[in-house]
Amino acid sequence: MEITKALHTDHMELKKLIKAVNKSEDGEERRRLFTQFAELLTKHSKAEEKVVYDALIATGEEEEEEAGHEGYTEHMLADTLLAKLKAGADPMSPEWSAEAKVMMEILEHHIKEEEDEIFAQVKEDFDTSERKEMGDAFEAQKEMVKA
Ligand SMILES: [Fe+2]
Ligand SMILES: [Fe+2]
Repeated sequence: MEITKALHTDHMELKKLIKAVNKSEDGEERRRLFTQFAELLTKHSKAEEKVVYDALIATGEEEEEEAGHEGYTEHMLADTLLAKLKAGADPMSPEWSAEAKVMMEILEHHIKEEEDEIFAQVKEDFDTSERKEMGDAFEAQKEMVKA
């Protein structure tokens, strides 16, 4: 599968899961959905860094390098929030709810930037067969990440 398609599939699932976390009014259900979300987010992000961001940085093009580093930075911020949510004792508390809401907002922002800017760069810098190889490498990396 082409890399942009593989990324987009995960993006849809991640948005669906975090939305459901926010919508749920049951603590156990929130926790269960959040666990699914956290696992996919970690696998997706680590594989994306290795296969997509590193490839963009390696092009040596200024805009691509910056986009790759911007992606790493946003992942780092999301990781911090993810750790706070994982550590939160009560998923129905106002604090946890606020963190989950901010997670949804930063995720939506991050995904929009990726699909607008990074997808365009990937399509410009890599041909179809390279993009398919990147898609395979992405799926393989995801399997290897411990989440
Ligand atoms: Fe992504
Ligand atoms: Fe990302």
